[in-house]
Amino acid sequence: MIELSPERLFGRRKGRPLRQRRVRLMEELLPTIEITVPATGKVIPESFFPSSMRDIWMEIGFGGGEHLAAQAVVHPEVGFLGCEPFINGVASLLAHIDTQKLNNIRIYPDDARHILDALPEASLGRCFVLFADPWPKKRHADRRFIGKENLDRLARTLKPDGEMHLATDVESLALWMRERVEEHPSFVCLYDSTTPPVDWVPTRYEQKGCAAGRQSTYMIYRRA
Ligand SMILES: C[S@@+](CC[C@H](N)C(=O)[O-])C[C@H]1O[C@@H](n2cnc3c(N)ncnc32)[C@H](O)[C@@H]1O
Repeated sequence: MIELSPERLFGRRKGRPLRQRRVRLMEELLPTIEITVPATGKVIPESFFPSSMRDIWMEIGFGGGEHLAAQAVVHPEVGFLGCEPFINGVASLLAHIDTQKLNNIRIYPDDARHILDALPEASLGRCFVLFADPWPKKRHADRRFIGKENLDRLARTLKPDGEMHLATDVESLALWMRERVEEHPSFVCLYDSTTPPVDWVPTRYEQKGCAAGRQSTYMIYRRA
């Protein structure tokens, strides 16, 4: 694995022990759709899929994978790359893939920054970073995914006119994200609202937040 110094990954790698079916999926299904990132050199995302895909989209921090699986159903002609270092989340996505017989998802079960650095320039048509930063405290601001370095990574890997979809259910984080993206020269705002876009697919974290009375903010930026 590529060393990403001095950055660190915050958040959990493991939760409760996996149930038997999920252990089997980790052992048998994951190796067939897992992306391996070499220590040097690039990965060619089109080569991950057996047939030619109309576009390649990525989700960073897919959690339990509900959103990613639903997007893959709605867009069977798109190849999806999902990044998530939380193993229980990976196992949950595998269960969705297995149950719904999805063949257009590939998984990088680790820190998205590794694969972003290994992707060729202008290789992604869309990238989702949804509720990825549960770090509202100011002193934890350096843990947040949305910041100058990762915006540089996204600007490099998104195609011209490619889209970055962001969401958060913390008002101060919406402000932070908006400020960070708007001071970056590569992105133009297409959408910014507390009403989800028309084709929005809810995420698990968002639904929990909604049930607890939290208001989400949805933003879409175009790669200029
Ligand atoms: C609050 S959860 C939200 C999960 C999901 N997007 C949802 O809305 O249900 C944030 C997720 O982002 C993942 N994450 C944080 N930093 C990441 C990184 N550098 N690369 C990939 N995933 C990351 C965490 O492991 C965690 O599962």
